[in-house]
Amino acid sequence: VKTAEFKELLLKEFHRVLMGDSKVFKSGLVSHNTYDVKYEGQNRQGSSRHEIMCALKRTRIRTITANDKPFQRLGFRIPGAPLQERRVFNTCAVVTSAGALLNSRLGNFIDSHDMVLRFNNAPTENYTDDVGSKTTFRILNSQLKPPAFTIKLIAFLTFTPFNYTSRRPEADVHILNPQVLWELWTILQDSSPYRLRRNPPSSGFLGIWFSMHRCNRVRVFEYVPSVHVSRRCHYHAVRDDPACTFGAWHPLAQEKALVERLRDNSDIDVFQRGFIDILGFNTLNC
Ligand code: C5P
Repeated sequence: VKTAEFKELLLKEFHRVLMGDSKVFKSGLVSHNTYDVKYEGQNRQGSSRHEIMCALKRTRIRTITANDKPFQRLGFRIPGAPLQERRVFNTCAVVTSAGALLNSRLGNFIDSHDMVLRFNNAPTENYTDDVGSKTTFRILNSQLKPPAFTIKLIAFLTFTPFNYTSRRPEADVHILNPQVLWELWTILQDSSPYRLRRNPPSSGFLGIWFSMHRCNRVRVFEYVPSVHVSRRCHYHAVRDDPACTFGAWHPLAQEKALVERLRDNSDIDVFQRGFIDILGFNTLNC
């Protein structure tokens, strides 16, 4: 498939999905506000790439600890200390779990980055040719069942991993302050001409934002879909579901449309080779 044609089709698809969602939302058929999100938007639709980057930068990495309310009295097993690991990396790879990574043979390239971030229970074993083997961070979502395989975890950043922390006491787990999710959601809504579903951003978007805080350059694999896009949800499981790539619950289409605007590498990289490059926040004067 030709790069320019594919790009045009993809951007149209983002708009089609977002417009569809927005119509459902406005029709009032679905309330779409499970989390009681209050939005008094500023609408940054016309804002520049720099302004969006700065808004993302202003959302700091904040984690909750056992001493924060209401956890103090609830007695959950959550970390006593905030995320201490403050290393800044030069190059980072954010590896989505997209089905398009299967047979990509990007493994060595991914492993050549100083930091590699993965999601949920996505394995490397048996898939190293395609996704590499190095894992520096892993972001888990609240629905996760503990992975059945052994993985070396240097740090976790997640929300509500209570089951996980009790089953894996040795893991260095941190819980993202949920307020951060809504700050990021607001940036997504502010930068969109459509009304978005009021659900938190996907783990993928959190991983990108987290890495922008910690890396000089962030490379994200198969988040903005390339010509290798498939109906398969995950590279590691035989299940088709195009909603994994274009969004059903998360405001995924807007997340992807937004980072597509932030990237600074060539169309060939993005749509043929399968990755976007974004500058880290420390290179940015806001
Ligand atoms: O499905 P899961 O949440 O574990 O995948 C991790 C992240 O990878 C998602 O939050 C999403 O951002 C990204 N993803 C994607 N396309 C897919 C599957 C996952 O962009 N087909």
